[in-house]
Amino acid sequence: MERQLVLEFVRVTEAGAVASARLMGRSDAKGADHAAVEAMRHAMDEVRMSGTIVIGEGERDEAPMLYIGERVGAGWAADGEPSTGAVAAVDIAVDPLEGTGLVARGQDGAISVLAVAEAGGLLHAPDIYMEKLCVGPGAAGKVRMDYPVAANLRIIADSLGREIEDLTVVILDRPRHQALTESVRATGARIRLIADGDLSAAISCAVSGTGDHCVMGSGGAPEGVLTAAALRCLGGQILGRFVPRNDVERQRCLSMGIDADRVYDTAELASGSSIIFAATGVTDGSLLKGVRFFGGGARTHSLVMGLESRTIRFVDTVHMFDAQAFGRVRL
Ligand code: FBP
Repeated sequence: MERQLVLEFVRVTEAGAVASARLMGRSDAKGADHAAVEAMRHAMDEVRMSGTIVIGEGERDEAPMLYIGERVGAGWAADGEPSTGAVAAVDIAVDPLEGTGLVARGQDGAISVLAVAEAGGLLHAPDIYMEKLCVGPGAAGKVRMDYPVAANLRIIADSLGREIEDLTVVILDRPRHQALTESVRATGARIRLIADGDLSAAISCAVSGTGDHCVMGSGGAPEGVLTAAALRCLGGQILGRFVPRNDVERQRCLSMGIDADRVYDTAELASGSSIIFAATGVTDGSLLKGVRFFGGGARTHSLVMGLESRTIRFVDTVHMFDAQAFGRVRL
């Protein structure tokens, strides 16, 4: 499945990124998200797969496109059954625009992203909060959610052969993280408070040279599943605990078979044996450049990884929307 589809999925995240990047700085988070959704939905229909959205824009009654359960791809026959032949039956988790507010404000760190696995290979997570601890390959399997912050940071620092003072911990800048932020400060570690985008921050932590070493705090659970897919491909780890805030969310967890009392590990959130993860920068980030437009075209920067094929590709694509663009691109 991976070899055939890897580059087709980059086209999907590229389409989402280019469409939403047009709305950078327009103070229109919903519009930017909608542009990404439409473009990705359209691009997905050209992919040779019978795909089912398991994490997307919400339930069918709240999202016209990329809703949970929606069938996407060129591999569905007119009768709604997967068509016979060489098409892959896959589950898809998609976040057309991670960091809608970042794009609206023209800030760094927004990406267009999806993860794909064989059917059943991605946890169907409710759209509630998840407490997360994300680390790179060195500390994977060593940190624990029930360890004090200082103990986990010691483990991460040791795994990287550095002092705690030389670590950067990424935390979403939210009032709910005040106590956590203070605990991290007390250890002497550096902190990068981000406005949005704990998924791209978690990917950065698993890639040396980005300057990020760990993500702590709570963010979206769907982003947690996408993070798990990325970290499976990178050898990192996410530990995640679902955090229902009321009875409705508790009920939702129960109905989806989620145990809110336990910590889920990377391979439970993304259990697939064949995973593809693709992300394209919308605005500049520590790992990916944002979309750059020029007369008649645009240039995108993407990351696409395959678990089975053990490949990590950075893809630099020049999109020429019209023939005049040929003369304007500087390669
Ligand atoms: P959007 O893509 O919907 O804008 O969400 C971005 C994000 O910052 C995620 O990266 C994060 O997991 C979640 O929102 C945090 O939620 P909240 O803003 O409610 O704290």
